[in-house]
Amino acid sequence: MKLFRRKHAADLQAEAHSDQSLKRALGPVNLTALGIGAIIGAGIFVLTGQAAAKYAGPAIVISFVLSGLACAFAGLCYAEFSALIPASGSAYTYGYATLGEFVAWIIGWDLILEYLFAGATVAVGWSGYVVSFLKEFGVTIPAQFTSAPFDHHPPADAGWNMWRLFTEGWVSTGATLNVPAMLIVGFVTFLLVIGIKESASFNNVIVAIKLTVIFTFIAVGFAFINRHNWHPFVPPSAGDGQFGWSGILRGAGVIFFAYIGFDAVSTAAQEAKNPQRDMPIGMLASLGICTILYIVVSLVLTGVVSYKLLNVSAPIAVAVDVFGEHLAWLRTLVKIGAIAGLSSVILVLLLGQPRIFYSMSKDGLLPAVFSAVHPKFKTPWLAQILTGILAMLIAGLFPIGLLGELVSIGTLLAFLIVCAGVLVLRKLHPEMHRPFRTPAVWLVAPLGIICCGGLMAGLPRDTWARLIVWMLIGFVIYFAYSHRHSKLHHGLMGKNVQDK
Ligand code: ALA
Repeated sequence: MKLFRRKHAADLQAEAHSDQSLKRALGPVNLTALGIGAIIGAGIFVLTGQAAAKYAGPAIVISFVLSGLACAFAGLCYAEFSALIPASGSAYTYGYATLGEFVAWIIGWDLILEYLFAGATVAVGWSGYVVSFLKEFGVTIPAQFTSAPFDHHPPADAGWNMWRLFTEGWVSTGATLNVPAMLIVGFVTFLLVIGIKESASFNNVIVAIKLTVIFTFIAVGFAFINRHNWHPFVPPSAGDGQFGWSGILRGAGVIFFAYIGFDAVSTAAQEAKNPQRDMPIGMLASLGICTILYIVVSLVLTGVVSYKLLNVSAPIAVAVDVFGEHLAWLRTLVKIGAIAGLSSVILVLLLGQPRIFYSMSKDGLLPAVFSAVHPKFKTPWLAQILTGILAMLIAGLFPIGLLGELVSIGTLLAFLIVCAGVLVLRKLHPEMHRPFRTPAVWLVAPLGIICCGGLMAGLPRDTWARLIVWMLIGFVIYFAYSHRHSKLHHGLMGKNVQDK
């Protein structure tokens, strides 16, 4: 059936090697920095404290381990694909090679949640830190212009009625727009339009700043750990995902957001100098480094301050307060680090989105304007600008909690499909040369599917309702436009197309 036509992986490999329109400028260090740039952000600087205070207590450390495991399984599967098919479309392209066009569309559409929406989400977090930083210097921006005009409280009696969960419960907060969040998206979009090399250098500087801040926090914080704060390590359950083991699981779902981004490395495959070797290095090294940092930071954080005090927008700054007035400079440094750190997350996420659009457009599933490359800057500039405009609107209008959950569920779905896809391709094309092979794939990939599915199941129903509506919109676009314009459908692509 045509819906399930696949691009042959060999064609994709050939396409990836012959398409020279994007500049190949990135080596393994830049790619690892790109991963770290995407990963460490709102998760460590905001969500760790909030998830500890509300759901897991000091056992947030265990939540990080659980969530990190799900990412490690998915990351190992991503690495196999990214070395095998180093094309810029990431999971979308892998899906095309394995599960067919329709599933590829589902993944591509779903990845918009991961990249475009996540970029907007982190911009909202950035806005919060900037507001708090400016306040230290006596500059107050009216709340009217620093928060979202809309919020959502799902109706308690809606059960599983997806339509009610989606349409009812919206409230106006009285704010106008989150202006700083919109401004940072605009600035980052500008940087991305003018060039990948320049963007990667900017990213490296910022990654260095945020790592310095985190290491300083860990080093100084160790001396201030009070072991009493770790008792009880797993606070007794208060029901409904609050504390106890169910709280640890819910905490894992919430801080999953903190790991999002390592796969963004794979969207830069066509800009990597040696993608077959460097894609797995970039992804797995950045994931490994961040997992260790998260575990250590959450240990120090919950050791320095009682988890009960961490439900704030700048939890690490709260911990720094404990260090005493003579270390007050560290609080300012933490805020600077967070602002810089969140900027680089926005940069990498917004870098990824147009590259997925680019691949979808090359395949005919989106109009040609999405793959227009700027003659001088060599970037997919029109797709980048469109991404920027949409992300600005989303960041300006919606609150961080709502956006973050939507991003998590979308990303988990993409990870789950990648884990399934790697198994399908092993079955269909065992003979292909795989520069990186997922170890124990028949164990790792199913575990990835189970872990990602489990974390999805733990997310609230209104988030599911949004995912379903988003997917339905995607189906309409697919059948109204993409299916008809697909190059595969019109026989304009590769000689190895396979009908299933
Ligand atoms: N992982 C990224 C963050 O924590 C999205 O901000």
